[in-house]
Amino acid sequence: MCGIIGYIGLKPSLPILMDGLKRMEYRGYDSAGIAVIENGQLKTVKKSGKLDALQAALANQSFSSVIGLGHIRWATHGAPTDLNAHPHSDCTGKIAIVHNGIIENLAELKAELKAEGHELKTATDSEVFAHLIEKYYNGHNLSEAVLQALTKVKGAYGLAVISSSEPDKIVAARLGSPLILGILPQDQPNQGNGYVIASDAAAILPFTKEVVYLEDNDLAIITGENYEIIEKSGKCNNHQKQHLDWDLTEAEKEGYPHFMLKEIMEEPKVVADSMRGRLIPEQGKVKLGGLIDVLPQLKSARRIIFVACGTAHYAGRIGEYLMESQLGLPAEVEYASEFRYNESVLEPGTVVIAISQSGETADTLAAIRQAKKLGALVLGIVNVVGSSIARETTAGVYNHVGLEISVASTKAFVSQLVILVLLTILLGRQRNLSEDKAKEIISELENLPDKIKQILEQRDIIETIAKKYAQRNNIIFIGRKINYPIALEGALKLKEISYLHAEGYPAGELKHGPLALIDATWPVVAIAPQDSVYQKNLSNLQEVKARDGQIIAIATAGDEAIKELAKEVIYLPKTLEILYPILAVIPLQLLAYFIAKERGCPIDQPRNLAKSVTVE
Ligand code: F6R
Repeated sequence: MCGIIGYIGLKPSLPILMDGLKRMEYRGYDSAGIAVIENGQLKTVKKSGKLDALQAALANQSFSSVIGLGHIRWATHGAPTDLNAHPHSDCTGKIAIVHNGIIENLAELKAELKAEGHELKTATDSEVFAHLIEKYYNGHNLSEAVLQALTKVKGAYGLAVISSSEPDKIVAARLGSPLILGILPQDQPNQGNGYVIASDAAAILPFTKEVVYLEDNDLAIITGENYEIIEKSGKCNNHQKQHLDWDLTEAEKEGYPHFMLKEIMEEPKVVADSMRGRLIPEQGKVKLGGLIDVLPQLKSARRIIFVACGTAHYAGRIGEYLMESQLGLPAEVEYASEFRYNESVLEPGTVVIAISQSGETADTLAAIRQAKKLGALVLGIVNVVGSSIARETTAGVYNHVGLEISVASTKAFVSQLVILVLLTILLGRQRNLSEDKAKEIISELENLPDKIKQILEQRDIIETIAKKYAQRNNIIFIGRKINYPIALEGALKLKEISYLHAEGYPAGELKHGPLALIDATWPVVAIAPQDSVYQKNLSNLQEVKARDGQIIAIATAGDEAIKELAKEVIYLPKTLEILYPILAVIPLQLLAYFIAKERGCPIDQPRNLAKSVTVE
């Protein structure tokens, strides 16, 4: 969703704000703006379009201001215009706010403010914050005015506010949308530190690794020298400092044309990092440090429910299959956005596992709160350390794959699948998974990084195939059993970055309807490794070929027979049936990438989407 940043300290604020916005561009990119306090006056510059448009608008302006706010927007209320871009101001033009989140009682608040004579100029919900703060502001009580304004608002916010009447402070508040305070090193002894407050660690990383995560209902008062965090009640609430363990290079493209390609190419390392220190091969066991405290509850678990959205939901589908097929443990997966309203009945012994790369997805967060209310043990598989989902779950496993910047999730998905296999072994060894079987899976897991490298070496072949099919209008993906969710994920990846119409189907379902679509214009991507449903897949491919469908097969190395059916074949190294999804998704990610590239799409920032969906 939107990215927000604020800086206060001794340095010129503008370069810091712009650097931070650049690093958060993946969160939203339909408009951007900054506000600084220059010689006691609030100066705001905002532009629709990508960050470059703001950069161009700022080209002829110079600011010496040492305090400011920045925002990069993903529109919820109001079209992406200059006017609707943040920061927003009050009637006096002295207050500026940047907001990430959503105001639910907007109509009521707008009517109230208008009746009181406030002039609201934009179509956004966020502007309401500026006027509410104005209402309670007397020129020297900014933090109190913000606190009072917040009592009126229903919804979610990560909010930062400045006022030219108090040019020495930023007030920030959080409820439901992330906010992180970065503590900058002192330039010289006895000088103030300087602080960056942002919705995303990526924006803070260039300046410091020392951070404090704000909690829901926190309000931070940040001056150039110090900061204070208070709760709604006024009680001081300074949380422990934490150290970001990400490397700045993770936020750079390092020579790749897009973050998406860089992140796919990192996958051999991602798989190794997800397993690092967690395998005990000689005993056929895994150790997941984050779950140690809940091992007894896991042992008596009678049902697992995965909750997640989008790509993470498809990982959950594979989790469901693993739990049931390998352990006989009843499992299911729910869209987090549905689970929160489903009025599900959870029997004792239910464990709910949220899967989320960002750890901030609003629907997933709401689902885990609902699951907690219903009495379930709630765990997380999360990439972003210290994120809301990581903090609100009782226990969990981190992916440890570093920043994922491209909006289309790739390396995090691969890691989620690896963690799900580790979880299967952990729960399995508490149940009936034999030591020998576990050892076999672990040994093959250890081979995966090399096998992934072999797939990545076929990058040029995949690009050639992509070029051939890039101008088609529709593509169908099919798979069976554990690879059916990979068909869904392949279709999602393709549609979100190339805007091609793509659908994923269980291969056996084609003949129940979609086969009617197939003719020589339709490519069909078939995930058909040599597993227990290989022959069934071949029969389905015969049906497609008989209708002139153009088959692109993802097959096991050495499979010559499939060449009879398929126009194109991308080979996967042989592996265990339950590990094929980890390999099979990689050519599909590359196929989507190269098709989008061929179609000239903005790959890392697809239209209408944003990384980390922090609104409902
Ligand atoms: C697709 C994609 C999204 C996310 C979904 C959940 O490529 O990235 O579908 O998977 O929005 O996000 P997280 O995992 O951050 O909860």
